[in-house]
Amino acid sequence: MKFFLDTANVREIKEAHSMGMVDGVTTNPSLIAKEGRDFEEVIKEICEIVDGPVNAEVVSVDTEGMLKEARHLVRIGDNIVIKVPMTVDGLKATRRLSDENIKTNVTLVFSPLQALMAAKAGAAFVSPFIGRLDDLSQEGMLLVEQIVEIYSNYAFDTEIIVASIRNPLHVLDSALIGADIATIPFSVLSKLASHPLTDKGLKSFLDDWKKSQK
Ligand code: E4P
Repeated sequence: MKFFLDTANVREIKEAHSMGMVDGVTTNPSLIAKEGRDFEEVIKEICEIVDGPVNAEVVSVDTEGMLKEARHLVRIGDNIVIKVPMTVDGLKATRRLSDENIKTNVTLVFSPLQALMAAKAGAAFVSPFIGRLDDLSQEGMLLVEQIVEIYSNYAFDTEIIVASIRNPLHVLDSALIGADIATIPFSVLSKLASHPLTDKGLKSFLDDWKKSQK
């Protein structure tokens, strides 16, 4: 299972990358805005750190605008993936970009049929937002299960990025279901690595070692 980091913060990306945990990065306009830096400058810096897909999202809502932005953004790095919203215009842009061999990630997916359409349009990736569904008392993970089944039924090669991850259980469930990728905020990634019994066990090993050295 691949781990993408869901952030535009370069310090977080460097830290997770040094742990070998960054197979790719997803950003969105909100994450970029949070950094208060120039969009293209941030994306370029991320591309210099990460070999895998670096997702940059368009902000146009019409197909032509999306295509223009996408064709510009792909010049930043060989590993750029264009995030396109799950709208009719977004599907048209996805089809055209796919025909131009530009990889897309159809984002803001909240239903299995949206995911089916994204795959048919030629998306390289699809991003179901599970946390936002959970927030509305709808089971986000059920959506992932349904997409996995549909893509398997028809042998689509669109990769599923489980997005809007809020806690470690979301990552565990994604892995058990067999999603291709989880895109994980740095705060959640840090939690995955820690366990109180690991800390307790390490402390007692080190205490015993010190005692034996006296
Ligand atoms: C990733 O591609 C999404 O932009 C991100 O996971 C959204 O997460 P949120 O629902 O916590 O904003």
